[in-house]
Amino acid sequence: MAVYHIVSHPDPILREKAQEVKEITPRIKKLVTNMIDTLRDASGVGLAAPQIGVPKRVLVVGAGDNVIVLINPEIVSLEGEPELGEEGCLSLPGLWGKVNRAPRVTVRGYNLEGKQVGYNAEGLASRAFQHEVDHLDGILFIDRAVEVYKKE
Ligand code: CO
Repeated sequence: MAVYHIVSHPDPILREKAQEVKEITPRIKKLVTNMIDTLRDASGVGLAAPQIGVPKRVLVVGAGDNVIVLINPEIVSLEGEPELGEEGCLSLPGLWGKVNRAPRVTVRGYNLEGKQVGYNAEGLASRAFQHEVDHLDGILFIDRAVEVYKKE
């Protein structure tokens, strides 16, 4: 198990547009394994590669044994009336905000075997996918929040 250091705002890497993964190399596989370890260690619900200092389009969403890996993820569709919900971010410790997100999302990308995969997600999972895809475009939840506040 390897846990990465999580990069904190305002590190400029969090504002970069992450690069597409061209090939799923052993290095990418190791990156993903360690991102899952890091996510579990931090008890988060999602993590994007730029948050551990790697500007590649890779994200993990989920908890426990149910972690979804998406390489080169794309949001295919957003459905439903946007809902205001609370969000935090492992790169902005102690900070929270209310963010409008579509309640349903369809995402697709590639798994570690290089196979195209798609997911329909609702509620918190929908929010998490949208939040993590934003990270790959250098967008943080504070950019979208209607209200930001500190909390322990
Ligand atoms: Co985040």
